[in-house]
Amino acid sequence: MTDTKETIVYAVCEANIAPGWVQPFTLAKVGADGKDEPFPILIVRDEARKFYAYVNACPHEKKPLYEESENYVSDGRRHLHCMQHDARFEPNTGLCVEGDCKFQSLESIPVAIIDGDVCIAGVELAEDDDAGPPEIMIVSE
Ligand code: FES
Repeated sequence: MTDTKETIVYAVCEANIAPGWVQPFTLAKVGADGKDEPFPILIVRDEARKFYAYVNACPHEKKPLYEESENYVSDGRRHLHCMQHDARFEPNTGLCVEGDCKFQSLESIPVAIIDGDVCIAGVELAEDDDAGPPEIMIVSE
């Protein structure tokens, strides 16, 4: 008998976000009390074409960094920035390098590209009445 460990991952979007862009999504997850709660996330594609996922909540005041898709490298910028008070974050680590929450980090979410989709893991997502849950995949480690 084989003892395989399985991980549930959720496909959030197609892996076609352009390098240098960030895309917010509002999902729902199952909270510690078993009730659904909002789960806003950011999918980031850096200039090296790698994908990253973070909770869309700034360490400063827990407000969203982005509310819509944006090219974070435009206008000479090279960092994610919080629209609230302009804190700056490294796109590949989530570390704040400038602003009121300097040296604090965005909460990282494990991400993988599977069958052309950006997938996240490490969280139990809830059904969203409007859009339904993201596609669920189960992968063996
Ligand atoms: S809430 Fe992000 S810098 Fe203040």
